[in-house]
Amino acid sequence: MIMSKPICKNILPFIPLILVLGVIACPSISYAADKSQGSLVIVGGGEQTDEITDRFVELAGGAEAKLVVIPTASSDETLPEPKASAITERWRARGIENTVLLHTRDRDEANRNEFSAPLREATAVWISGGAQTRLASAYVGTKVQTELHALLKRGGVIGGTSAGAAIQSGVMIENGNPVPNIGRGLDLLPNAIIDQHFLARNRGNRLIEAIRRHPNLVGIGIDEATALVVQGSRAEVIGDSYVVLVTAAKGDQPTGILTMRKGKKIDLKEFAPKQKSKPIEWAIVVHGGAGSVRDDASDETVQAWRNGLKKALDQGKSIVEEGGTSLDAVAATIRVLEDNPLFNAGKGAVFNSAGEHELDASIMDGKTMDGGAVAGVSTVRNPIGLARLVMEKTRHVLLSGPGAEQFATEQKVERTPNDYFSTERRRESWERVREKEAKKPTVRLSPAQAWQYGTVGCVVLDTHGNLAAGTSTGGLTNKKFGRIGDSPILGAGTYADNQTCGVSATGIGEQFIRHSVTAQISQLMRHRGWTLKRSAEYVLNEQLNKGDGGVIAIDRFGKIEWVYTSPGMFRAAADSEGRYDILIRDEESSD
Ligand code: GLY
Repeated sequence: MIMSKPICKNILPFIPLILVLGVIACPSISYAADKSQGSLVIVGGGEQTDEITDRFVELAGGAEAKLVVIPTASSDETLPEPKASAITERWRARGIENTVLLHTRDRDEANRNEFSAPLREATAVWISGGAQTRLASAYVGTKVQTELHALLKRGGVIGGTSAGAAIQSGVMIENGNPVPNIGRGLDLLPNAIIDQHFLARNRGNRLIEAIRRHPNLVGIGIDEATALVVQGSRAEVIGDSYVVLVTAAKGDQPTGILTMRKGKKIDLKEFAPKQKSKPIEWAIVVHGGAGSVRDDASDETVQAWRNGLKKALDQGKSIVEEGGTSLDAVAATIRVLEDNPLFNAGKGAVFNSAGEHELDASIMDGKTMDGGAVAGVSTVRNPIGLARLVMEKTRHVLLSGPGAEQFATEQKVERTPNDYFSTERRRESWERVREKEAKKPTVRLSPAQAWQYGTVGCVVLDTHGNLAAGTSTGGLTNKKFGRIGDSPILGAGTYADNQTCGVSATGIGEQFIRHSVTAQISQLMRHRGWTLKRSAEYVLNEQLNKGDGGVIAIDRFGKIEWVYTSPGMFRAAADSEGRYDILIRDEESSD
């Protein structure tokens, strides 16, 4: 049975907050709900009142309703009996005979037409409570999300409680209090961030922090035993406690707070900041090494570098904008750079002290946090492809030297004589470095030299919400003793975690290994709640030496960043919002 027990909530804990913050002026509006736009019944958790359940059942079509219940937020991997029957029985007791359960943890399953078929017939969907991250991992970006939006468009109702409420916003609070971890929800209620158990669990500060980070959205804090019923932009509070609206501080205006209880009707449009905050669907960033062309370089030289970056960027962009995976886009982009003799990766790699080429590469999947890498390979035409095979075909992460070559033979990847990688430009620079080092052997590289070496890398956020990063290099000119740099080391040269960011580094590998640069950037975001920009700037500026190199990165919302302390960085970026940049020196991006 769905419990009906009025709960008297105490708003007192929230009052000091309201006093120090502003109070949103509540426009008086005429309220005329429009059911044809579909309805949301967003419940703040706790015990559910009859009033809320009755409203949902009525909007669902009463005895005629075709209800789909999604219990995926619960900890049950499968839905065993008698739990499954208990759910349908609860709704039968409310007069809905036709109830189907929809549950999987598997995104491939969620994308099958047969799986989402009941949603195409449904008049109503109920999403029960638990952990919203389970719902997000299973359904965000899948056919289930598409069908839920279609249901609303044809005038259906979607209700949910607790996690089933949080998942209804596009920018979703996953957990954390007072510092929220933010992920992606189903975006059923645009321009809002929903928080639940709001007063009962003292979540005012975390919603304010979420809105501070996303000032274009309205925060909706819903307390237990309370619901916001939304039709189009019209919203009404029902239930026993409060709904609190939070809008961002602007200029000298403080954070806005509006506390509403049962019977209050508003138009959410009046509170939504004017500009619509559309999530970035995909993003790609590429680097061709720390450094720049000489100030006196000819226009043709500059154009050649730009063309090289453009070709790589366009390759990855075409994959990701068509819905391809971030791993495919990263691997294909880096392959283009490896095939271009301008860059220090694949063809065009620098010479080692023996006058040969030893190549390193790695790739990492932010969804699984699995990765693959190769170090010191000498006959593999595209090391990034072999790195990916290490991830996908072995239980290892990093293969080196002869073992990696043997694996390449087993996998039948394209091979090439070592001198295929040689270019005249790299030979000349090797001779210059050899001459210098013969006079004064370099034990430690000075930071100012980092820019001479370069590397290539790519980070992608795909339309499925997955990040991937990869890096490939010939290493440092005249390197000795089987030296391996940061590029094939996950956490140093490459890192990706869907919860935080993807990063690829370029510069003096030894420094990036010493400071676990790419992993550290991710950890600062995860544990300190810092933005990607702040985290990357902290590591590059405060931990490394000026001139050591740079990073490219994308956070899980698709925000692209690059930070470098070298004189310039070959870099390019594009995203679903129309950004398209190819930059070499310290030019401003269109961001
Ligand atoms: N960052 C490339 C290397 O040091 O090998």
